[in-house]
Amino acid sequence: MKKIGVLTSGGDAPGMNAAIRAVVRTAIYKGMKVYGIRRGFRGLMNAEIDDMDVSSVGEILHRGGTILNTARSDDFKTEEGMKKAINILKVFGIEGLVVIGGDGSFRGAFDLSQRGFPTVGIPGTIDNDIACTEQSIGFDTAVNTVLEAINKIRDTVSSHERTNIIEVMGRHSGNIAIHTGMAGGAEGIIIPEIPLDVDTLCKRIIKGRHRGKSSSIIILAEGAGKAMELEKEIEEKTGMETRATVLGYLQRGGNPSAADIVLASRMGHHAVELLEKNIGNRVVTIKGNEIMDDDIAEALVMPKTFNEELYQLSQVLSI
Ligand code: F6P
Repeated sequence: MKKIGVLTSGGDAPGMNAAIRAVVRTAIYKGMKVYGIRRGFRGLMNAEIDDMDVSSVGEILHRGGTILNTARSDDFKTEEGMKKAINILKVFGIEGLVVIGGDGSFRGAFDLSQRGFPTVGIPGTIDNDIACTEQSIGFDTAVNTVLEAINKIRDTVSSHERTNIIEVMGRHSGNIAIHTGMAGGAEGIIIPEIPLDVDTLCKRIIKGRHRGKSSSIIILAEGAGKAMELEKEIEEKTGMETRATVLGYLQRGGNPSAADIVLASRMGHHAVELLEKNIGNRVVTIKGNEIMDDDIAEALVMPKTFNEELYQLSQVLSI
């Protein structure tokens, strides 16, 4: 394979630029030509395709977001959209594609592979909800961003002896909530994977305050509810001043962590090695610190798990 393309799709994640850089420089190092496709699958259908050289990816390693921009595209999901995309790839002589994104992006990669166009997915989403890999690009950075916010909020919550419910992203996954709740010593973690028992949560808050805690931090995954709604219910049940904070999109930005840069670089390199051997229809994964790859179709149907052991441990350690 001598000509490949790379695109980013779905929600952006810190570290995506490191993955793009690794794809471009590995391909050029191997004597391949590489194209950057802007705005995900939508840009692909509009032939928004640029030549990439080694300097195209200079000075981006430390930047969050994606220099190729990203977008969500319903048109691409149609047969006509996919045919248009494949025709455009052929016009440019592109023989293989790297798709950096989440589950939704991998469905697009699978569809292209099914139509005979070799495509390799790289897991890039702060949600870390892609079952076939232990870590997705952006998760480590997002967790550290949330932890910084928790520590800032705890200062003012302690001063006022309040409870604060911090709503974090994750779509339908509680992974960001579990890891940040554990790291931030939260008194409670509410995730979509475990039904909420408000009374038990309120008892924990009251018990903590009575034994001398000056603050209570509750981490709420967005898939399990709205902080603004829970705020009133918890204040009424505990009789304690309660506030809510929705962290929102700051979790998607910022300089990627060293861990995310290294992960993204390793995954980008592996994706190009697969395409070089004409291997497509794969998702790059990390398992036990080893970079591997799985069949896309199998990856898409793997049951999503959550770290119950960490969830239970955080409950024990925050008594
Ligand atoms: O998938 C990443 C994510 O940040 C989710 O955690 C969040 O629910 C979603 O994207 C927001 O999507 P959008 O950027 O399209 O508003």
